[in-house]
Amino acid sequence: MISLPDAFKKFKSNLELNEKERTNASKRQIEVRKYLDQDFQIDRSFLTGSYARWTKSKPLKDVDIFFVLGKDEEHYRSKHPDEVLTAFYNSLVDAYGNDAVTKQGRSVGVDFGVVVDSADNTDYRVVSVDAVPAFVKGNNFEIPNNATGQWMGTNPEIHAAKAVAAHQAYGNEWKGLVRMVKYWNQNPRHGEKPIKPSFLIEVMAMQCLYGGWSGTHDREIQAFFATLRDRIDEDWPDPAGLGAPVSDRMDSAMIARAQSILNQANRDIATAINFSRQGKNGEALSAWRNFFGPKFPLS
Ligand SMILES: Nc1ncnc2c1ncn2[C@@H]1O[C@H](COP(=O)(O)OP(=O)(O)OP(=O)(O)O)[C@@H](O)[C@H]1O
Ligand SMILES: [Mg+2]
Repeated sequence: MISLPDAFKKFKSNLELNEKERTNASKRQIEVRKYLDQDFQIDRSFLTGSYARWTKSKPLKDVDIFFVLGKDEEHYRSKHPDEVLTAFYNSLVDAYGNDAVTKQGRSVGVDFGVVVDSADNTDYRVVSVDAVPAFVKGNNFEIPNNATGQWMGTNPEIHAAKAVAAHQAYGNEWKGLVRMVKYWNQNPRHGEKPIKPSFLIEVMAMQCLYGGWSGTHDREIQAFFATLRDRIDEDWPDPAGLGAPVSDRMDSAMIARAQSILNQANRDIATAINFSRQGKNGEALSAWRNFFGPKFPLS
């Protein structure tokens, strides 16, 4: 039987991006860019968000691609952000069809119709991407935000630098742990994701995972889930200090629901840790598997 520390190591690597997935993501970026190039003047595009920071969980859904628009598209900046999102939507519907394309608050989603199997595998393919129209603004970017009807500042480099700093301060285990907690968050057992957006988990981890890495995943996860429960009701600003508060999608009903799910999670973690304390490794493995989902290995 696999030991618990080895199971966590394997779990961490199961949630890591591999070469085939990165090749597929690049291919999809080029493909979406090719379609958008027909309708927009795009200066450059790049894969970003959690994907680029190695904090994306599996399966690879909603991989963010920034499309940095050029001079010919400047007129959109003085318009409601919905205009450029609608224009992106129309362009991508022409390419991929109605069913595959969704207009969202800050991006347009494209679903590639990839099947996710019962073990959360996709044969190394990206399920969907979020195409984000962006303009350069000084050292930062401006992206649409339909929730406020305004353009919103953002800076992926600052987010990436903060993630790297947190990772290093935490024995290089921070990104792996963030991926695990994001994987827990999207477990279908919860129905809707309890914590929205999942970027909020990463933002909370930037501040809450400190004091170094103690050496065991189960204890670190226990401490982080206790903090998630205690502090999910706080305001969490954009770590770069530019965009809307990252916690602004959690209204009081969503917070109450998240707290109750997090309370249960804390109880489940205590049970799993108790099994280990009693030397019941098999039971501990199954408890963590139920907690996280099929990417947590039993062998
Ligand atoms: N409120 C915000 N203010 C500024 N930048 C933001 C804000 N929310 C998200 N971003 C930036 O946009 C990126 C994409 O947002 P998204 O919600 O997809 O998060 P994510 O980190 O990619 O998480 P996920 O793994 O769920 O895709 C984030 O990684 C972050 O860099
Ligand atoms: Mg994303």
